[in-house]
Amino acid sequence: MINSIYSDIASPIDKVINFALAVPDISLLPAAKINKSVMHALRNNKDHCINYGHPQGNVELRKQIAKLAFNWGGKIKPDDVVITNGCLEAITMCLRAVTQPGDTVAVESPNYFGIFQSIENMGLKVVEISSCFISGMELDCLKKAIKKFPIKAVVTIPNFNNPLGGCMPDENKQQLVELINKHNIPLIEDDIYGELYFGKNRPRTCKSYDTRGLVMHCSSFSKSLIPGYRIGWAMPGKFIEQVKQIKRMHNISSPSITQAAIAHYLQNGRYEYHLKNMRKALHTQCLRYMQAIIDYFPEDTKVSRPHGGFVLWVELDKKLNAFKLRTEAMKHNISVVPGKIFSASCNYSNCLRISFGKPWDDNADYGLMMLGRMIRKML
Ligand SMILES: Cc1ncc(COP(=O)(O)O)c(C=O)c1O
Repeated sequence: MINSIYSDIASPIDKVINFALAVPDISLLPAAKINKSVMHALRNNKDHCINYGHPQGNVELRKQIAKLAFNWGGKIKPDDVVITNGCLEAITMCLRAVTQPGDTVAVESPNYFGIFQSIENMGLKVVEISSCFISGMELDCLKKAIKKFPIKAVVTIPNFNNPLGGCMPDENKQQLVELINKHNIPLIEDDIYGELYFGKNRPRTCKSYDTRGLVMHCSSFSKSLIPGYRIGWAMPGKFIEQVKQIKRMHNISSPSITQAAIAHYLQNGRYEYHLKNMRKALHTQCLRYMQAIIDYFPEDTKVSRPHGGFVLWVELDKKLNAFKLRTEAMKHNISVVPGKIFSASCNYSNCLRISFGKPWDDNADYGLMMLGRMIRKML
C-alpha cells in the first residue's frame, strides 16, 4: 500500500488529482526567495559550500532554529540542536538513541506510516495507544500500557497530528510530560505541523514542559517551507551526544548548500511573513475541502475539523473498504490514502485521509464529487 502511495509522487502532476500526498502545493512555497538565498550562500561561503558540513549542522541554521523555539515557549541553545535530513531521520535517530532491537515502544495511533516503517526497520515492537481528535494521545491508555509492557520510548505527534489533524491541548501535553518523567521514559515528539496553525497562537510543545531532558523534539521544514531540501532537526535533550554520534555514523553530515541557503533565508526574517500567508491559504483550503466532503459524501460521513496542518480524516460507513475505494479511484486518476496505512494492526479500514495542500479549484471539486459517487456506489 505504502509503495503505491509513494508512486503518486512520480505521477505527472497534471494527470492525477492528488489528495494523497501530505505536502503543500508548490504555489504556496517561496521558491524565488529561496533561490536568492541559494545564490547568496554560493557567493558568500569561502568554500562555495563544497566541503563537508559540521556533523551537528550549520551553526547559523542551528541559531535560527533555536530562535524559532521561542514561539512555542522553548529555551533552546544552538548547541541543543542536531540538523538532520528531514524529520523522519530525526525521529529514527532519536529512537535508535534510546532503544535496542526487540524493545517495545508506545506509539500514538492512528499515526504517520513512515514512523511505523522506521520502527519495524529497527526491529522494535509497537504498542498502539489510541488517539482522539480532541484530546490527542489517550493518557489513561498510555498509563495502562506502561504498567503492562516494558515501554522504552513513547512517540507522539501532538500538534495537528497526521492523519487525524487534531491538536493535543496544552494541559494534556504537560500531563504527558509528567507521566513520562515519573516513569523515566523518553518521549519523541514530532512537531512537523506545529507552525501551520489557523488560530491566533502557535500551540505549545511537550518540549516546552520538559524539565529533565527526556523530551526529544523533532521537526523539519518539509511541510512549511521546502520539502525537497530535506532539512530537519532534533532537540534530543539529555540524549544529544548519542544522537550526534548516530548522525555522524549514519551519513556524516547534512548537505552544506541547502543548510546555508535556509540559514540565510531565516536570517532575513522572511519565514514568518511566508508562514502568515501560507496559514491563511491553508485555512481557506481546509474550509473549502471540508464543505465539498459534506456536500458530496454520504450523510453519515464524519470529517475532522482541523485547526492547522493540511489533512482531513474521513470516517465512512463501517462496510466501506477504503483500500478498494483507492483502487477504484485510481482508475479515474484520483488518489487518496486509505486509513489502514496509519496503523500497525490494520485498523481504520473504513477511513480515508484527504490532503488539502493544493489550492481549491475545479479539479479538486470534480475529484471529491467523483469520490462521493464512488463511495455511494460501493455501499
Ligand atoms: C507527521 C510526520 N512526520 C514526519 C514526516 C516526514 O517528514 P520529512 O519529510 O521532513 O522527513 C511526515 C511526512 O509526511 C509526517 O507527516
